[in-house]
Amino acid sequence: MRVLSAPNKLKKQIIMGSSTETAAHTKNILVVFYSQTGQLQKLTEQFAAPLKQHSDICVETLEIKPRQAFAFPWRFMKFFNTFPETVHLQPQAIEPLKFQRERYDLVVIAYSVWFLSPAQPVTAFMQSREAQAVLNNTPVVTLIGCRNMWLMAQEKMKKLLQHAGARLVGNVVKTDQCGSAASFITTPAWMLTGNKKPVSWLPSAGISDEEIADAARFGQKIADTLQADKPLDETLLQNMGAVKINEKLILSERFAHRSFYLWGKLLIAAGKISPLLRKGILCFYIVFLVAVILTVVPVTALLKSLFAPLLKNKIQMQKQQYGWPSGE
Ligand SMILES: Cc1cc2nc3c(=O)[nH]c(=O)nc-3n(C[C@H](O)[C@H](O)[C@H](O)COP(=O)(O)O)c2cc1C
Repeated sequence: MRVLSAPNKLKKQIIMGSSTETAAHTKNILVVFYSQTGQLQKLTEQFAAPLKQHSDICVETLEIKPRQAFAFPWRFMKFFNTFPETVHLQPQAIEPLKFQRERYDLVVIAYSVWFLSPAQPVTAFMQSREAQAVLNNTPVVTLIGCRNMWLMAQEKMKKLLQHAGARLVGNVVKTDQCGSAASFITTPAWMLTGNKKPVSWLPSAGISDEEIADAARFGQKIADTLQADKPLDETLLQNMGAVKINEKLILSERFAHRSFYLWGKLLIAAGKISPLLRKGILCFYIVFLVAVILTVVPVTALLKSLFAPLLKNKIQMQKQQYGWPSGE
């Protein structure tokens, strides 16, 4: 079978009177997201807006829907009881996925972080055979909207992408506007009450409007790259401040993830024996977790600052690893 080159293909379409004269040049982008509060949806819309302005770029948006919706606001025990399966990448089922095409020039995966892992519906998407077929051999940009701890989640996402045969070419991260200490209270309070500012003396939870609007800069860069017919490779979003790595959180994230992993394993095993046993251990773990966060996070941050001069090279290497491919 003779494969026609792009100009010949176009010529043939014109000779045959085809109305799809521009189809040969159309770039197809799939944007996938799951958002519980609507915050990530807004971020995704800002990101995709510049791409949608071009008639030769076709943006298909797919919202991942869990078979049984995660209720928002969360009930206290349900919130914590979700962590073992989330961390062990054993998500609840999602609705069947329907794509309009078999192949895309780019897939954008927008996700929020749950317990230092991708949100369950996004993990379910990544594990589905349909998504893996679409992702295979395709450039992917990840777009994260979360409180501020995303490093371990993105490492897991990198493995899921690798398993699907996808090529990660960029990562954009937007985090909550108030600092680490305040958002430790404001984000869970938002999740449990549904209110971003449940009390007047606390700052508002969530990503600021300016940061959400800033997501458009990255969509614009992708549009410009496609318009210039340049390849979508790892340089795509470099030197744009796509991610910021808070080096003080690296150690805490690694420690917390280890703890979630081990306790999650125990809770899943306990649940198989008796749901009541799981609940009892979970109650103990919640108290333990709060104590650990209040002690380990500040202590590791302090240790990191004290030993920073000695650990300079190691921190630099970790920042490169976690920031890859977009970098700071
Ligand atoms: C169950 C749960 C766990 C979360 N765990 C984290 C976390 O580990 N790190 C983090 O930065 N944000 C965490 N968040 C905040 C989310 O990443 C995100 O900011 C928030 O859910 C809003 O996103 P949405 O648009 O999907 O609703 C968590 C939220 C939920 C509901």
